[in-house]
Parts: sequence; C-alpha cells; structure tokens
Amino acid sequence: MNRSIAPSMLSADFGRIGEVCAMLDGSAADRIHLDILDGVFAPNISFGFPVCEAIAAASHKPLDIHLMIVRPEDYIERFAALKGARYIAVHIEACGGRLRKVLRQIRALGLQAGIAISPGTPVESLIEYFGEFDYVLVMGVNPGYSGQKYMPETLERVGIISEMAAAADASFFIEVDGGVGKANIGDLRRAGATVFVSGSSVFDAPDPVAAIANLAS
Ligand code: DX5
Ligand code: ZN
Repeated sequence: MNRSIAPSMLSADFGRIGEVCAMLDGSAADRIHLDILDGVFAPNISFGFPVCEAIAAASHKPLDIHLMIVRPEDYIERFAALKGARYIAVHIEACGGRLRKVLRQIRALGLQAGIAISPGTPVESLIEYFGEFDYVLVMGVNPGYSGQKYMPETLERVGIISEMAAAADASFFIEVDGGVGKANIGDLRRAGATVFVSGSSVFDAPDPVAAIANLAS
C-alpha cells in the first residue's frame, strides 16, 4: 500500500543540517517537507531562504514546501527556484480570494500546487477549487509547531475529501501533516491519503532511517 513519507525539517537538528540531509538521502523518504512560518499566519517563526538553500544544496530529494505565511504570492518564485523544489502548498486561510491566482502562479512555474487546510476550516471549502490544485495538505494539528497532539477528527476529514473527489471525478492526492505516526498512518491511508508528513515520529526516534522505513511499510 503506497505511502510516501515526507520528513518535516521543523523537527531536525539544525546544528547538523548536512548530516541530516545525508541521512534523509539514504532513507526511504520520498520528499523533504519544509515548514515555512512567518510568525503572523501562525504563532511561530521557522526558517527562510538561507536555510532552505542549504537544505536544497545538501539533499537530492524533492522539496515539499509548506507555506504558513500570510502573503505566499510574494515569495512563490523564490521558493520555486530552489534546487529540487517540486511541491508548494499555500493555506486557504491565508489566501482568501487570491487563492486561485496563487495556485495558478505555482503551476505556471512548473511545480505541483497544493491547498493546505487547517483543522478549523470546513473541507467543503475545497470544492470550488477542484481542478485548480494537485494535492490537498490536510493538517492533523494547528499550524505552528511539530510534536503536537494529533487531532483524531482528521481521519473523518480525509475520508470526506476522498468522497468529494470521487463524486466530482476530481484527481488530486491527499497529504496529511501533523501528528502522523505508526498509530494513525494505516487508517489515514485507508481513508485515501497517500503522502504523510512526519516530524517528531521521525526525528525523535532513536533511528530516523528505520522510523521512516517503518512508516513507509
Ligand atoms: C506544523 C507543520 C508540520 C509539523 C509536523 O505547523 O506544518 O509539518 O512540523 O511535525 P509532527 O509530525 O511532529 O506533528
Ligand atoms: Zn508542514
């Protein structure tokens, strides 16, 4: 049962970023998840372009960029220019009426466009954008930090999104982000998700390579 694992660098040891990237390159990780936080959209600040460029230079995996920032359109081009950049998700809550334009901006740069949706946002708000995005990033926690408690209603939200996609014959993949671990990944996969972000379940494990392989299997 295919499960793509996207380790979130928000949980990584930034004092050893080169070693971390080498470890990920040798792992079953499908892509590297970069959590970009501006301290306005969510109450945390993560890292910017110098760090993203260092990660891009030190790894060979595709970059899965998660923009938790209020004006993503101002930075899409710079993120798209990163070596290995393949996916960019922007929050529906941050873009409002500009979302369609931002999604088209991402696709016009040759990347896959994702809509990130926070736990408090109704999944039905995705429907009017069907056809305009390549994936949905379903948050299992509120944006801001790794290591938070998984919100169990995420499973039902993934199931509803899968049903809505089937009813509309819309094709996109579902990525789950936040609180993913061995205990919930199987149910989430069966509900229709195929890509799984994991921060603390990977980087807090004694053997991250084994943890990634375990989640992927
Ligand atoms: C939260 C981030 C998530 C988080 C995942 O705002 O978008 O990617 O870092 O970390 P875990 O897997 O520990 O919840
Ligand atoms: Zn994320």
